Amino acid sequence: MPDPLVIATWKFGEKAVATALPMLQAGKPALDAALAGAQTVEDDPEVDSVGFGGIPNAQGVVQLDACVMEGKRLDCGGVAGVEHVKHVAALARRVMEKTDHVLLVGLGAQQFAVQQGFPLEPLVTPESLRKWDEARKKQKARSSAPMKRRKGDLVPPGTFPSDSHDTVTVLALDRSGSLAGVCTTSGLALKLPGRVGDSPLIGSGLYVDDTAGAAGATGVGEEIIRIHASAFIVEAMRAGKSPQEACEAAVQLAIAVALRRGKHLARVAFLALDPKGRFGAACTKGTAFPFAVGRKGKVELLEAKELGLE
Ligand code: GLY
Repeated sequence: MPDPLVIATWKFGEKAVATALPMLQAGKPALDAALAGAQTVEDDPEVDSVGFGGIPNAQGVVQLDACVMEGKRLDCGGVAGVEHVKHVAALARRVMEKTDHVLLVGLGAQQFAVQQGFPLEPLVTPESLRKWDEARKKQKARSSAPMKRRKGDLVPPGTFPSDSHDTVTVLALDRSGSLAGVCTTSGLALKLPGRVGDSPLIGSGLYVDDTAGAAGATGVGEEIIRIHASAFIVEAMRAGKSPQEACEAAVQLAIAVALRRGKHLARVAFLALDPKGRFGAACTKGTAFPFAVGRKGKVELLEAKELGLE
């Protein structure tokens, strides 16, 4: 059996990995470890794109999205547009374990949370409201300024309101050789009320299958959904690509689709892990995507390969 291993998106992923790794080493299942890791980020008010303290939507309300998946039986669950529930990844797990459904949204998801004993609590903080106000002002200024684009630059800095958001996605491999993943976010700052990104959608923000591998996404959900990125990466691994090659193939696909649509490519980044414990990561040029890796008792921060128009 491979050594346990866990990877997670962004610098704040170090915190998730530091929580998950000892659990995996103690023999806990991959989903328990990935969920506990993701929850440390949901709880952290300084992370303004996940859980408590996430930047609100256009109406000043925090609406959270999350999903979970395990690779043995392809059990999965998700929740989208949930207000006043901090631990939405745990709620997604309850959808997986306690219902016959895969995805609950909005008020229905919130009512299910209450039935399951989750507390309803405020998710905004003075700091997240301050950032929300700042983001609104920037968005207004941006919409009145002409868009600048340098040659070969797919992601002009400051062009997308998404510059201020990122998702925590955690992928884990346990001692039994099984994979699981968790994805949780407050989504795009200033999103329209009811907007759903990739993070609660199985196949887009996350996909896990022990017979091929696990993949997760972060970045602008609309572009990730359009290419069904996580399922695409897992199927690429099934077809023989390494996790690194599969992530790069997904970024190349996102670039090709953006060109075909005559659009600027928004920032997207992908992580993948296979059942042998090999992992990979890639992102669009200009994104700078650090990710955390926990293995053999150590946590490191690595940089994903950036790909753009060459
Ligand atoms: N990737 C998170 C979102 O777009 O909402």
